[in-house]
Amino acid sequence: MKNNRASWLRIPVAFFLILGVMEYFIDSGNKPAVLTYPMAQVFMLFILLLIIAVEGIVAAIENVMFQTLSEEAKERYLAAKNKKWEWKWAKKTYKQLLGSKPLEAEGEIILDHNYDGIRELDNKLPPWWVYMFYATIIFGVVYMFRFHVFGGYDQDLEYEWEVAAAQAEIEEYKKTAKDLIDANTVELLTDAGDLKAGETIFTGNCAVCHKVDGGGSIGPNLTDDYWVLGGGIKNVFNTISEGGRAGKGMVSWKTNLKPSEMAQVASYVLSMHGSNPADAKAPEGERWMDPTAPIQDVQVQQIDSTTIEVIMDDGNTDAPLPPDTDSE
Ligand code: HEC
Repeated sequence: MKNNRASWLRIPVAFFLILGVMEYFIDSGNKPAVLTYPMAQVFMLFILLLIIAVEGIVAAIENVMFQTLSEEAKERYLAAKNKKWEWKWAKKTYKQLLGSKPLEAEGEIILDHNYDGIRELDNKLPPWWVYMFYATIIFGVVYMFRFHVFGGYDQDLEYEWEVAAAQAEIEEYKKTAKDLIDANTVELLTDAGDLKAGETIFTGNCAVCHKVDGGGSIGPNLTDDYWVLGGGIKNVFNTISEGGRAGKGMVSWKTNLKPSEMAQVASYVLSMHGSNPADAKAPEGERWMDPTAPIQDVQVQQIDSTTIEVIMDDGNTDAPLPPDTDSE
């Protein structure tokens, strides 16, 4: 009773099947899970032993059962087992798809001409080829109408869709990765929750030197238009993150505060702008003008009753005339 020929095949097949399923379900990045997780190696070793054990047990049971059979039954059993299992259906379909005549019937399709003993069989085109050819024709017609007659999407549009989808993904990612900001990417937060959190950080860490109202004591006034180290969210964030000039007392906060927290407290600082607290420190540094802000402080000087000259802060006189003047 030796019919374990297939077990050397069954064992690796089962093993790699399970390995494949495991790799499919375990997300391990670019590297296969077996290499990434030692647990997975232990698991696969266990599976291998298990498969071998199962094979062994099944073979042993079969052997024992076989010994209990009568001689005649033994023969019948072996005969049944050795009978070849055939892919009858697959073979039939394969033949049909080829559409070729059997050798015996070739006389029917041989052509008359004969060149030096070489003759030609007039075989039909194989059905698999013909069907595929029809399919390409149908595809071509559908394609032509869909994209050239009725104007479907083209590569440019597909590109834009993908960019838009990627943009949305980035936005989504940014929401979950709030600490990914730095001085170049930080944006002014206006959400009440963020400002509240910023206020808490400010009173806890900064008020000792800047006063609770931001009016300034050791550190400068944070509520006026004047900044030593630059105003605007990016500069303020940078000052908080990197600290002020050496020896002045403003330390770098990036080791104590997360980027998201620095953005919150920076936004809170800017929200105090113009609050004019009592006993505020005198302005220090330079007047800060947001380069992106709309130009303000336009003075209108009346020269005479009809001529109007607009004087901007930078002395530029080319600006358009204000639309409305009361003088006639
Ligand atoms: C130990 C005192 C001290 C603490 C605490 C402190 N600062 Fe300052 N801060 C200063 C000083 C001093 C300066 C001026 C630095 C300079 O001139 O270089 C300053 C400058 C600043 C500036 C720049 C002001 C300008 O005019 O450019 C900002 C913004 C600022 N601090 C915010 C904060 C925030 C937010 C906190 C809390 C997280 C904080 N500071 C904590 C002392 C302090």
